[in-house]
This record gives sequence, structure tokens and C-alpha cells, in this order.
Amino acid sequence: MSQHATRPLPTTFDTPTAGEVLAAHLDVRLAAEPELQSRIGIIRDAFGGRIAFSSSLGVEDQAVLHAIADARADIDVFTLDTGRHFAETLETLDATERRYGRRIRLIAPAAEATEALVARDGVLGFRLSLENRKTCCDVRKVQPLRRALEGAAGWITGLRREQSAGRATVPFAAYDATLGLMKLNPIADWSQAAVEDYAARNEIPVNPLHAKGFPSIGCAPCTRAIEPGEDVRAGRWWWEQEDGKECGLHNRPKTVVSTNGATR
Ligand code: ADX
Ligand code: SF4
Repeated sequence: MSQHATRPLPTTFDTPTAGEVLAAHLDVRLAAEPELQSRIGIIRDAFGGRIAFSSSLGVEDQAVLHAIADARADIDVFTLDTGRHFAETLETLDATERRYGRRIRLIAPAAEATEALVARDGVLGFRLSLENRKTCCDVRKVQPLRRALEGAAGWITGLRREQSAGRATVPFAAYDATLGLMKLNPIADWSQAAVEDYAARNEIPVNPLHAKGFPSIGCAPCTRAIEPGEDVRAGRWWWEQEDGKECGLHNRPKTVVSTNGATR
């Protein structure tokens, strides 16, 4: 039974303060719980409203999905279908739905905005400038993400601190004031080896590209394999400077307040 059973669970947050207070509480509880499945249970029990998990189908997210399935947690799972995925990613999606016997909601970008973008910039126009690239990510990922999260009380991701310098302070829980929801990163403290070990032990379906030098997989035209010793995200938007390499899903500073004072 939930420890919050005697008082109503939040389905939305009336004030940022209410969200920040719960974030601080959850951050401590999640840090103290070593098992991923139990972390998912803590998250599910903390809210009365919808909790959505955004999966890129990368190995981190496959691990989180496995724990959600194991915990039999009522969590909405969706993936952003940018229209530019590798064929291997779609195969992974299909294998995952069959393995877990559930649909993963596919969120498509708005047709008119996508057509206008390609008419303006061309089919690979995102390589021509940072502004073009960010616009493409906005149309194909950020706006669809906002739509998928509308009305949700919680948003689970597979972000890890080790993934890049920019993610080094990712908390387990942070209130996102712009989206008006709790952002939850249940494997924030996991290493790459821990993720791979968990996937192997549980025979989780993983994208075959991971074994071919792609630790981080995004859209096909914007992802390449990395060389040994390179940063795990070095193959993402490889033509750009390291410090700007986010697509806008997670880098909205000043809008997110975490318990350790970091903004995300
Ligand atoms: S990205 O911002 O650079 O694309 P990354 O691939 O590292 O992110 O994934 C980090 C987290 O962002 C994932 O664990 C997932 O929660 C979310 N995410 C990234 N891409 C997608 C996608 N296509 N669909 C749904 N969620 C995604
Ligand atoms: Fe567009 Fe590349 Fe961003 Fe995908 S990763 S949305 S193709 S710019």
C-alpha cells in the first residue's frame, strides 16, 4: 500500500512550491532505494495522475521499460517517432512490443509543420546551421514531446549522469515548472556497465546498433558510430560543438528546479 494512502495523491501541481517539495522528498527516497523495480514503484505510488515514460528505445530506456513491466506499474509508455529513425530502431520497437505484450504509443510530428520545415530547409537542411538543426528537433521531437506529456503529473526518462558533462548533475526527481510536472530519472546514477549488465541478465531486447559502436542512438542522419575512447554521445550531431549537443528535450534551463540546486 502507498505511504500516501491517507491523503490524496497529486494529479497536477497547483504551485511550483508544491512540486518542489515533493521533488525533494522523492529525490531522497529514490537515492536510498537501490533496486530499479522498487524505484518505479515509489514513483508510481507518489502520484494520482498519469505518469508517462518517454522511451527512445535505447538500452537505458529498455532497462527502465523492463522494470516498469516487472513492477506491473500503470505507466504510459511512448516514443517520439521523428520519421528519421534507423530501421534497427523500428525493429527494436517491434521486438519490444512483442516481448512485453504491450503497445508503445508512437507520437508523430505535426504533418503541416514538418512539411513547412522541409520546404524551407530541404530534406537534410539541419546540417546547414545550428538554427536549422534546432528547428528540426523542435518540430520532430520537442513539440511532439509536449503534446505527449500534456496533462501528465510525472515524466520518466532514462537520463544518466555519466552520459555527458551537461548531464553530470541530473537528479532523480525535479519539478519542471514549464511543463507543470515532476521529471523523474530513475537510473540517473547508473553506469554504462550497469545498464548493459542489467539488459544482459534480463535478456532485454536491445538495438543491434549498440553492438556496432552506437552507444547513443538518435535519428539516423544525425547519429554515427563512435571510436574507442570517445564520449558516449560523441556520435550525436557530431559536426557540432560538444557543449551545445542537446535537442531541446532536456535542456530548458531556468524552468526546472532540482533538489540539489541544479537547473535542467
Ligand atoms: S537526446 O535528447 O539526446 O535525444 P538521449 O538519446 O540521450 O536524448 O535520451 C535521453 C532521454 O530522452 C531518453 O532516456 C528518453 O527518455 C528521452 N528521449 C530521447 N529520444 C527520445 C525519443 N525519440 N522518444 C522518446 N523519448 C526520447
Ligand atoms: Fe531532425 Fe536530426 Fe533532430 Fe532528428 S536529430 S529531429 S533529424 S535534427
